[in-house]
Parts: sequence; structure tokens; C-alpha cells
Amino acid sequence: MTNLPKTPSFDLSGKKVLVTGASSGIGLGCAVAVAEAGAQTYCAARGLDRLTQAVEAMQAAGYSAETLPMDQSDIEAMSKALAEHAFDVVVNSAGIARHSAAIETTPEDYDAVMHINLRSAYFLSAQAAKAMIDAGKPGSIIHISSQMGHTGGIDRALYCAGKHGLEGMIKSMAMEWGKQRIRINSICPTFIRTPFTEATFSDPERLAWIMQKIKLDRVGEVEDIMGAVQYLASDASAMVTGTSLLIDGGWTAG
Ligand SMILES: NC(=O)c1ccc[n+]([C@@H]2O[C@H](COP(=O)([O-])OP(=O)(O)OC[C@H]3O[C@@H](n4cnc5c(N)ncnc54)[C@H](OP(=O)(O)O)[C@@H]3O)[C@@H](O)[C@H]2O)c1
Repeated sequence: MTNLPKTPSFDLSGKKVLVTGASSGIGLGCAVAVAEAGAQTYCAARGLDRLTQAVEAMQAAGYSAETLPMDQSDIEAMSKALAEHAFDVVVNSAGIARHSAAIETTPEDYDAVMHINLRSAYFLSAQAAKAMIDAGKPGSIIHISSQMGHTGGIDRALYCAGKHGLEGMIKSMAMEWGKQRIRINSICPTFIRTPFTEATFSDPERLAWIMQKIKLDRVGEVEDIMGAVQYLASDASAMVTGTSLLIDGGWTAG
């Protein structure tokens, strides 16, 4: 009889997973996805009210979830949280946008966006990897990047600069941490319906641009991201590192 291969497990039982930006949108979707796969889920964001409501809803649905309030512009606080918990998986979805024409971008907008989208992502990754190395265990770090880490966009020079930077950072970090079996990857969504995209979707010109670029003839929903995060967090992606998973409805295909 032929020896059949076994599909690697998507199960996250017994894993401790940190999800940042977990109070809203894609981050909340990621938190539910890993919790549904059995993970003990730590949900981080700044605003405690919204975070508590999200975690209470997850607990009511039977998931293992708790709050971990954290401002990611505070590198020291982030470092403390990561050293305290030996996370197996870190999903970083916290992020902001300040879209404008490049010639109108202010230094304040530049600093605000780069601070959270790149600087905090950099140190979160480094501190998560250090904690995993110290604990002597493998891990998976997943950043919610964007299709805008692979292409340009209208009024998005600043946002693209941060997300392209994130993609380069991931490749180099994957080279550094492979031997310790610490994987780092990104998920790159197209436009997803969340509070983040409300202003863009209510602008008819921008919505027309989006619908013309997405080949699958609809905008993305949070649910479109949830399978990808289970995959990258689990053994199902054990050989995947230093790369990005585009969930862009064909946007970057042409
Ligand atoms: N929605 C899209 O179309 C789309 C497409 C591609 C990529 N993305 C990326 O996906 C990620 C999440 O987007 P989303 O649509 O889910 O946005 P969202 O609904 O606005 O959620 C953003 C989350 O980040 C948290 N956050 C913001 N600043 C923070 C800080 N300084 N420290 C800690 N947490 C912070 C927010 O909570 P608090 O404000 O309470 O801290 C919130 O939980 C972002 O990185 C974004 O660039 C989004």
C-alpha cells in the first residue's frame, strides 16, 4: 500500500498568540481566527473600552481571549509585555494611515505613520524574536502589511513607503532567524471593509478606482484574511518565511 502524506495541522491548541490592533477590523478578525484554531489569544490595542468589548464577545463565543492594553509607540512597554509572555505567534495588525498627495504630506503625518507602521513593527518583531530565542522555541511572526507594500497607490506615497519598508524588513529578519525556526511573513490585503477604509469607500472617485483594479468585482471583507492568518500561524506553513501572501483580489496581477 502507498504511504499517504499527512496534511500538516492548522491547529493552534496550546499556543500563546499575541494579536495587535485586535480591537477592530482586520486585527479582530485575526484574533478570532487564531482563537478558533484553539490558541490562547492576547488581544492588544490602546483604547481599553473597544478592546474589552471585543474580548468579552470572544469569551462569550467560547474562545480563550484576554486583553493586553498596549501603545505600540511605547517601545519599552511593548518590550516588557513580550518578555513577560512567551508567545509562540505574534500577529501585528496595528496600523494607521494619513493619505494625501506627496507634496502635501507634513513631517507630522510622516512621523505618525512611520512611527506605528514601520518603527513599532520593527521593534515588535525584534523583541518577539528575542523572547522566542530566549525561551528556546520556534515561532511565527505575521505582519498585516498591504498590497501597497508591492505597488503604488493614489495619495499613498507615505503609506506605501511604510509598507514597502515592512516587506524589506521581513525578508532580512527571515534570513536572521531561520536557524532558530522563527518564521516571519506578511499578509498583504487589498481594500478591506473596516473603520480604516470608511472615508475611502465613501469617496465615489476612489471607490471607482478600487472597483476597476480588483478583478474579483468586490471589495475585501475581514473574513477574507482569516484563513491566511491560521495558515501562517500554524504548522501548515512550516516551510514559509520571508515572504508575503497577497490577498488582493488580483489587484497586483495587472
Ligand atoms: N482595511 C484595509 O483596507 C487594509 C488594507 C491593507 C492593509 N491594512 C492594514 O491592516 C492593519 C489593520 O487595519 P484595519 O483596517 O483593521 O484598521 P482599524 O480597524 O482602524 O484598526 C486598527 C487597530 O490598530 C490599533 N492601533 C492603532 N494605533 C495603535 C497604537 N499606536 N498602538 C496600539 N494599537 C494601535 C487600533 O486600536 P486603538 O486605536 O485603540 O489603539 C485598532 O485596534 C493596518 O496595519 C493597515 O495598514 C488595512
